[in-house]
Amino acid sequence: MNTTEKFDYDIEFFDREREKQEILDILKVKPQLINFIYGPINSGKTTLITNLIKNLPDNYVVFYINLRQNPISTYKDFLEELFDAEFEEALIERKITKAIPDAIADLKTAFGIPIPSKLFERIFSSEDPKSAFRYLLKIMGKVKEYNKIPVLIIDELQVIGDLKVDGKLIYKLFNFFIALTKELHICHVFALSSDSLFIESIYSEAMLDERCRYLLIDDFDEQTAKKFLEKHNINRESQELAWNHFGGKPLLLRKFIFAANKKEFIADEILFRKTQLKTMLNKVRELNVKVTIDKEELKIEYEAIIKVLKKFKGSEVINTDECDEISKTFFVNKNILFVDPKKGLIRPQSRIDLLAIREILKEIKQ
Ligand SMILES: Nc1ncnc2c1ncn2[C@@H]1O[C@H](COP(=O)(O)OP(=O)(O)OP(=O)(O)O)[C@@H](O)[C@H]1O
Ligand SMILES: [Mg+2]
Repeated sequence: MNTTEKFDYDIEFFDREREKQEILDILKVKPQLINFIYGPINSGKTTLITNLIKNLPDNYVVFYINLRQNPISTYKDFLEELFDAEFEEALIERKITKAIPDAIADLKTAFGIPIPSKLFERIFSSEDPKSAFRYLLKIMGKVKEYNKIPVLIIDELQVIGDLKVDGKLIYKLFNFFIALTKELHICHVFALSSDSLFIESIYSEAMLDERCRYLLIDDFDEQTAKKFLEKHNINRESQELAWNHFGGKPLLLRKFIFAANKKEFIADEILFRKTQLKTMLNKVRELNVKVTIDKEELKIEYEAIIKVLKKFKGSEVINTDECDEISKTFFVNKNILFVDPKKGLIRPQSRIDLLAIREILKEIKQ
């Protein structure tokens, strides 16, 4: 097989049986809680959800909205992502005479909530999300009338974390989600995010107390990672090499499988992370770098961030209270560290980041 051929195929979905079962069990009972799916970067959250959607039985109607697809900086941008005003034209083209809400019940997955264009214009011109929520509720009700179960999935929810429409949009959305789940039990709600600071802030949000469930989609464990590599004809020795450098990060394991020269690939990845991290540290040491926490701009102290990195010299995970808020915000924003608010732990985003941290610490003489 030549290299071109090798890149012509992609890797098929692997495992996640436990996580899939957990989500399927949630879908079997009536909606009670908002489900937050979180995990380190590139752990496979979106891949898992998209695979699960594809294989759901026909009695589920899934609305999957990925907020990462287009830039969102206003409430109107959000509406454009949330709704699909072109669905109507598709119905006309296919000579389907059903009204939109009835036609939706025939769908399996919609990547946007189908809406009549006239109504969309009205919702779009209003500055109050109530009319949008009212329509969503009507759609979910209609799906139920057809004895189907609606599932609303919003990927990359943190994108709208700071949007305002007469107050924060996210709070209005959470209230709506609470109505859909805990109060009306009408629709399953899943929100995905790779921004662990966002998940952490939700975790400590009083209005969401007892109303949410948090599901961690982590990198593969050692056994799964090795089985995954084995399936792609990676020998034992290389499996060990990959696990020692990339842990169970699916994206990196996938790249490793495709890499023509495995050792070179590993060396390149470490060098890349080290250079990135070094530049970040140099900037903090030499410039006046700040982070914003609760609208306040705070200066990052070089000594403080080095102190945090040093904690990873001898351990892979630390407790959240071992890291000051400014350094934590800095490293999470830079995708170096991941916070698991449910377990109260902080760790590097991947094994390769941990190795880069340790190598840099060796070079810092103080
Ligand atoms: N179960 C899996 N089987 C095979 N490959 C996978 C699996 N999960 C993830 N991958 C690979 O890892 C890549 C990254 O996964 P994905 O984009 O789903 O991660 P994510 O957690 O949603 O990332 P982000 O943190 O950026 O939202 C995928 O493009 C895919 O190549
Ligand atoms: Mg994702």
